[in-house]
This record gives sequence, structure tokens and C-alpha cells, in this order.
Amino acid sequence: MINIAIDGPAGAGKSTISRLVAKQLNILHVDTGALYRAIGLYIIRCKISFDDVESIQKEIKNCKLSIKYIDKEQRVFIFDEDVSDLIRTLEVSKAASIVSAIGEVRDYLLDFQRNIAKKESVVMDGRDIGTVVLKDADFKIFLEASVDIRAKRRYDELLKKGEKVILDDVLKDIEKRDFWDSTRKTAPLLAAEDAIVIDTSNLSIDESVKRVVDLVKKGIYGGL
Ligand code: DC
Repeated sequence: MINIAIDGPAGAGKSTISRLVAKQLNILHVDTGALYRAIGLYIIRCKISFDDVESIQKEIKNCKLSIKYIDKEQRVFIFDEDVSDLIRTLEVSKAASIVSAIGEVRDYLLDFQRNIAKKESVVMDGRDIGTVVLKDADFKIFLEASVDIRAKRRYDELLKKGEKVILDDVLKDIEKRDFWDSTRKTAPLLAAEDAIVIDTSNLSIDESVKRVVDLVKKGIYGGL
């Protein structure tokens, strides 16, 4: 069993890189941001105001979140509906960032995430995987990139999906999320002390994947 924790800010390439690393190592990829996004979408659908923390705390227990692997790709479900594609909008990004600051939401997802990693070898990506969720992970990677590059990557991604967006709005959204994610009281975005930091600003996806896979292989052959 191997647990690899990959953390970093929005747009650093975590999900794409983690998915490809998992594929090369033939283990599961767990995109934990998708879980926060699914809860964000659920709260939007419940028409609960984001200021009404008490109602959000009560309601999350009812959302019946689950994940399944279809052709080795993670899909996220609320009740029995596959919401994996619906959670990729800017509206849901904002909702996810807000609900992720609520302690009860994090506690609920903590067990959910740990239970997966207990049973399977995983590459798990998020914000607090190396610092909180999988503190004893075999490998901890922290991916970084400049804010302008991260905004441009997110912008291109959203355009590809057919969303009409303005680069400056995406940049502001990323800056706001960086601020929320790194200043919240519970499990803020932070590199674990024993994490290896990789700046992907000037690396292609393939180069970033290779760096991580090489590190893991070196660790495994070196006896971890
Ligand atoms: O990685 P992402 O953009 O899909 O994440 C969506 C939001 O969820 C992001 O604003 C931060 C939050 N998140 C978190 O707080 N902890 C995680 N482990 C993963 C995501």
C-alpha cells in the first residue's frame, strides 16, 4: 500500500498531474476538491444561504455523497446523480471554497477520505492532505505556480468546457480563493514540513508528472 499526498493552490495542476501519476503507478486517484465542490453544489440546490452556517452544518449529513471509479476515473455522486461535470463551474468553485471553511464539512469529509486511503493505494490531491488527512503519507508533494499562470490555466480549462469567462474574473477568483483557503482557521492551505515543493510554473504537465513519478520510484527503490 502506498499513499501519496499532493497539495497546492487552485490551478497549480494538482488534479491533472495527480490523475496521470496515479495512472502511471496504476493506483487510485482521489480528487478531494471534487468532494467539496459536490457539497457546494448540494448547498446551492438546497437554496441555503452561505451565511447560514448552522443550516449548512445540519444539511451536509443528508447529501449522500459517494464516489465510484468508472474506467479508473473518479466520478462523484449526490444521491445517485453523477454530478462530476456539473461541479466544474465558477459558481460551484466559489461555493466549494466557502463550505470548505466550515469545520463540520471538513470533519465529515475527513473520515470519508481516510476510509478510502485505508483500503487502497492512492494519489490523493487537495489542500490539507499532507498536513491533516494523510499525515503519515509515504510521499508528500506540494505543487506551486505563479498566480498569473494558474489563472491562465483555469481560464483555458473553462473556455474549453464552453463557459464564457473573462481572464481577469478568473484571476480575481483565484486570488480570493487563495486568500480564503490559506487564511481559514480549520486546515488552511499549507505545505507540510516534510513535503517536497515543486514549482510547475515553467513545467509542462508531462514534466511535472515525471518529477513526481521519479520521486516516488526513487523512494520505493530506496526502501521508502
Ligand atoms: O481543487 P479544487 O479547486 O477543486 O477545490 C475546490 C475547493 O475546495 C477549494 O476552494 C478548496 C477546497 N478544498 C479544501 O479545502 N480541501 C481539500 N482537500 C480540497 C479542496
